[in-house]
Order: sequence, then C-alpha cells, then structure tokens
Amino acid sequence: MELILHKCKLRYFKEGDEESIVRNANNKNVWMNLRNFFPCPYTLQDAKNWIKQTQLTEPKTIFAIDVNGKAVGTIGFNIKDDVFSRSAEVGYWLGEEHWGKGIATEALIALTKYAFDNFDLVRLYAGVYEWNKTSIRVLEKAGYSFEARLRKAVTKNGVTMDEFLFAKIK
Ligand SMILES: CC(C)(COP(=O)(O)OP(=O)(O)OC[C@H]1O[C@@H](n2cnc3c(N)ncnc32)[C@H](O)[C@@H]1OP(=O)(O)O)[C@@H](O)C(=O)NCCC(=O)NCCS
Repeated sequence: MELILHKCKLRYFKEGDEESIVRNANNKNVWMNLRNFFPCPYTLQDAKNWIKQTQLTEPKTIFAIDVNGKAVGTIGFNIKDDVFSRSAEVGYWLGEEHWGKGIATEALIALTKYAFDNFDLVRLYAGVYEWNKTSIRVLEKAGYSFEARLRKAVTKNGVTMDEFLFAKIK
C-alpha cells in the first residue's frame, strides 16, 4: 500500500527508517500528546522495535508519513474487537520540524478514506488531550466531529485533564 499525496506519501515502515524515526520521534513536544507507551527518550532500539511491530501486525493499518523519502511521522488506525468491530481508533504524530504545513491534515484525510474504502468500518475516532488545540484542528479539518468531553480522563506528565472525543462516521 502506498498513498501518494501532495505534501507527503503514506507507506509501510521499512528497515532503513530507524534514523529518521529517532530524529523526529525523540521529542518531548511529540510525546506530550501521545500515550505513555510512546518512548521518551526515543532510541534507535525503539525505532527498530517499532518497525518490526508494524511489519508483524495484521491487517496492516499503520503507515509512515514520508516526506522526501524520509519517515518523519506515523499515522494509522487500530480496529477494535467484539461489539466494536466496525470501529477503529486513529492515531498520528509528526516530527516537529514539519509542523504547520498541513501535512497531518492531508495524511488524516487520506487515511480516513483508505480505512472506509478498504475495511468494513463505519466509525473512526480519536481521543485528544485538552491542551492539544493543533490536533483538534486537524481532526476538524478532516471532517471529524466533536462528540464528548471525557472529564479528567487523562493524566499525562503529571497533569490530569479532560479528553475530547472526535469521530467520523462513514
Ligand atoms: C498534531 C500534529 C500531528 C499536527 O500536525 P501538522 O502537520 O502540523 O498539522 P496541520 O499543519 O495539518 O494543521 C495544524 C492546524 O492547527 C492549527 N493550530 C496550530 N496551533 C494551534 C493552536 N495553538 N490553537 C489552535 N489551532 C492551532 C494550525 O493553524 C492548523 O490549522 P489551519 O490550517 O486551520 O491554520 C502535530 O502537531 C504533532 O505531531 N503533534 C504531537 C503528536 C500529536 O498531537 N498527535 C495527535 C494526538 S491526538
């Protein structure tokens, strides 16, 4: 799978991406908006593990955001099970040096279409931390709607705050 867009390309991770992943992922400003399983500091071994994990996961729903041949971020969706089998959670991050150019918005629009077109999904959703105005904007621009404020749902870096739930229905 490869989606060629205007500002970036979405493709699978591959050996050789390690250095670029570390360069872009080893950043507290990225980590602050993600779950704690995202490593900080982010080492070469973390990048190797990540590439391997994405290669072993089936179906393949996790992609590198590629700018000029370099993996500078990640975007993907996680299909839920049991009664939630037609729902998936989307997630993404981008290296800070690439912020503010519309890359995440373009990637999320394309990923959303890809997920609905190729999987039996009717609902894509994301949980955003209260302080993450940028990601809220990205979700809005990609056609996701605000559904709920989950009060005091998240504790990140010692701060307990609300989480906003955004979703897009097919
Ligand atoms: C969220 C993230 C992926 C956005 O990537 P990006 O490519 O810079 O996003 P885009 O350029 O497509 O869009 C950013 C939008 O947010 C807006 N924005 C930026 N800072 C803002 C702020 N403080 N308040 C409101 N809007 C803001 C920008 O103006 C832009 O909107 P516009 O096009 O209407 O002007 C990137 O910041 C990131 O990786 N953050 C850390 C990880 C993360 O938050 N992941 C998502 C978890 S839910």
